[in-house]
Amino acid sequence: MDVEMCANSDELYEQKTELEQFSIIRPKQIAKEFDCAILNFSGDFSDNKYVTLDPRKSIQTKYGMVVFKNLIGKEYGSKHMFMSHNSKGFFYLLHLTPELWTSNLNHRTQILYSMDISMIVFELDLMSGSRVIETGTGSGSLSHSIGRAIAPNGRLITHDYSIERVNAANEDFRRHGIDSIVESSQRNVLLDGFAPECKEQKVDAVFLDLPEPWSAVKHAVEVLKTDNGRIACFCPCIEQVQRTCSELRMLKFQHIETREFVLRPYSLNSDTIASYADDLSEKTSYKQSYLKRKNYKYTHTGYLTFASYFG
Ligand SMILES: C[S@@+](CC[C@H](N)C(=O)[O-])C[C@H]1O[C@@H](n2cnc3c(N)ncnc32)[C@H](O)[C@@H]1O
Repeated sequence: MDVEMCANSDELYEQKTELEQFSIIRPKQIAKEFDCAILNFSGDFSDNKYVTLDPRKSIQTKYGMVVFKNLIGKEYGSKHMFMSHNSKGFFYLLHLTPELWTSNLNHRTQILYSMDISMIVFELDLMSGSRVIETGTGSGSLSHSIGRAIAPNGRLITHDYSIERVNAANEDFRRHGIDSIVESSQRNVLLDGFAPECKEQKVDAVFLDLPEPWSAVKHAVEVLKTDNGRIACFCPCIEQVQRTCSELRMLKFQHIETREFVLRPYSLNSDTIASYADDLSEKTSYKQSYLKRKNYKYTHTGYLTFASYFG
């Protein structure tokens, strides 16, 4: 009886620690030691710092000192004031998400941003349990979002021919608790094709972001399922798109479609408008809100080509 109870409590303990382990796919309410978090300063969406909540450490920011042990046990989303010289400074403690990772990671390569990523996840029909191949891994920006979309039972194998990028990405996947779903492996896809295991157990989707995607399409055919397997290719230049589309058509892909995403953000402004009575005897004023197009530096990121494979 005692032994059985012990076994049960061990099991419970293992389940509990598994659940308590930090993961971007299992957002928690309360910050724990060694969680990966984002400090968002003064509510400015672009003023962030990625940190690990190591209770022995602190960081100096332009607003003041942040002592990590003071954040353990605090709610994610909570607001914290800087008590030093600048009493107006504050920051929000945020749980790491794939989107926050994309906008705060150290670039090892050019990366895909959230607007393109959201369309890729949508157009590849990714869902819990999907099996996906990606190349190249690059900085792992897209891989994090794919990992969340296919969790908890899906699988993403992401290839890169640079062993440094493979190792760095796998370290990120481990720290962010998605290493049971996402794995980077070294491979020159143009020479060697995709992971051989995917030829036996086919994948639902293939994503290509490398300089000559058209040369990798023939390898995608070897691993894609034949009942609407989906492929997406990111190309910065229209010449790359044309070669990729020709190759897709030659290899009998269907529903080939290329899209360019152009972001046009607007801001809500307001002006004071004066209004007069008909005989001009009385003047009143009121506030009117209107939308104004923002000056935004990223207009074009690239072209995304999508297609379906039926064998
Ligand atoms: C622009 S980056 C990918 C960025 C990634 N999509 C992201 O969001 O972080 C392109 C990557 O493709 C890799 N690459 C280029 N040619 C390759 C090949 N033949 N096989 C595998 N990886 C390749 C490069 O090493 C580079 O890391």
